[in-house]
Amino acid sequence: MNFRNNLSRINTGKVASKKGYKIMAKKLNITDTILRDAHQSQAATRMKLADMLPACEILDSVGYWSLECWGGATFDSCMRFLDEDPWERLRTLKKAMPNTKLQMLLRGQNLLGYKHYADDVVDAFVKKAIENGIDVIRVFDALNDPRNMEASMKAIKKYGGICEAAFSYTKSPVHSEEYFVNLALKLQEMGADVICIKDMANLLLPFEAFSLVKKLKEAVSIPIHLHTHNTTGTGDMTNLMAAMAGIDIVDCALSPMANGTSNPSTESLVATLAGHDRDTGLDLNKLSEAAAHFRNVADKLKAEGILDPKVLNVDTKTLLYQVPGGMLSNLLSQLKQANAEDKFYEVLAEVPRVRADFGYPPLVTPTSQIVGTQAVLNVLMGERYKMVSKESKGLLRGEYGALPGEVNEEVRRKAIGDAEVITCRPADLLEPELEKYRAEAGDLAKCEEDILSIAMFPQVAPKFLEKRNSGNIGKKEEAKAEEGGVRVLYVDDRS
Ligand code: CO
Repeated sequence: MNFRNNLSRINTGKVASKKGYKIMAKKLNITDTILRDAHQSQAATRMKLADMLPACEILDSVGYWSLECWGGATFDSCMRFLDEDPWERLRTLKKAMPNTKLQMLLRGQNLLGYKHYADDVVDAFVKKAIENGIDVIRVFDALNDPRNMEASMKAIKKYGGICEAAFSYTKSPVHSEEYFVNLALKLQEMGADVICIKDMANLLLPFEAFSLVKKLKEAVSIPIHLHTHNTTGTGDMTNLMAAMAGIDIVDCALSPMANGTSNPSTESLVATLAGHDRDTGLDLNKLSEAAAHFRNVADKLKAEGILDPKVLNVDTKTLLYQVPGGMLSNLLSQLKQANAEDKFYEVLAEVPRVRADFGYPPLVTPTSQIVGTQAVLNVLMGERYKMVSKESKGLLRGEYGALPGEVNEEVRRKAIGDAEVITCRPADLLEPELEKYRAEAGDLAKCEEDILSIAMFPQVAPKFLEKRNSGNIGKKEEAKAEEGGVRVLYVDDRS
């Protein structure tokens, strides 16, 4: 078997496949997600800056490839719940960790939100993110439409950031290894410095990871980074197999907030590889010192009821239904609201049908909610597509970008009639809009960053800025999501 051949090659350090590609004894690099995805996945993104700072010196000395610390949910949570200016948090983290690359997650043309922004806002946001301390930007698009990543990738290069272009990993008849390899080649051609396999739903199984990474390493010349979770209990094995196949970087989280819905634990992988050819070179003692701090933080979040230990369980439903864990809980809560929990399995069976009708979009925010909600509507109405959500119509009209596979034209006609389908890059239809946001912000904005905060989170940012400007932040009052009612559609699932 290929795997065995490669194992022995790695062990002996001897190499060379037919194509001349070498699997070399080379250290595996680690990105730690403790400051972003770990607490987003386990604790509703509620880790405060004050909980991070005491560990920054030790984190900065570990020698990580990067530390992920910023993204849509952290930005939102700062203003909505924690009375923190997200830009100030970033500047403070950069100052506290001058030796480690800081990384963020960006949704391509959607930036930190769920709608397309005009190119001038994309440019301004990326410029400010880099200026304030971000080094690596992982950019992705829910549909894997490279045109939705173009403007941000260009801006990242323009302002000197490291451009990590990610594809959303999923399974479907159109998402073959060849599909992903071609996508990676396209992203490399567009100027990516690193390619990321973004397996937000923990769908990529260990042997599939081995095969995909091998094919990617043969095809592209830039480093490959793997992001997976441990929801289904396969994450550590997937990381290990990817390491055996020659992956360059993997994402892990320090153990106190690792595993379950979060990423696999850093210390476990570091110990596994120690003394072998893919040795990470990281010091377990240092990691353990950092972990001791975050164990206290996790205990505190548990005591506050924010971290529910249930997220740590292995959940194998995704292995059966290939539906992301976050999406399953959204479906269940939608059905609960409609008093139709007994329809859960019917809805689960409807999800793949809707997905096929829609041309197999990957199931990640926002497409996971669009497909999920449509499946719920199809089941509850007793007739498929009798009622079509606004978001489903938008997806079928091409507003989100090109769908990966063929769309069921009958369904499309039923949903949007004869309306014209957008085939251009969706953002080409948008006029510049930065000045509009500047005018809207008025006196509330004290700097360019504030204008961008308002553009990203128009409901949350103005309230936060008002409070901040009047010197009232730090006076704690548990803010809560102001849009009550059915807010299922845009609850962020794990990415
Ligand atoms: Co993730």
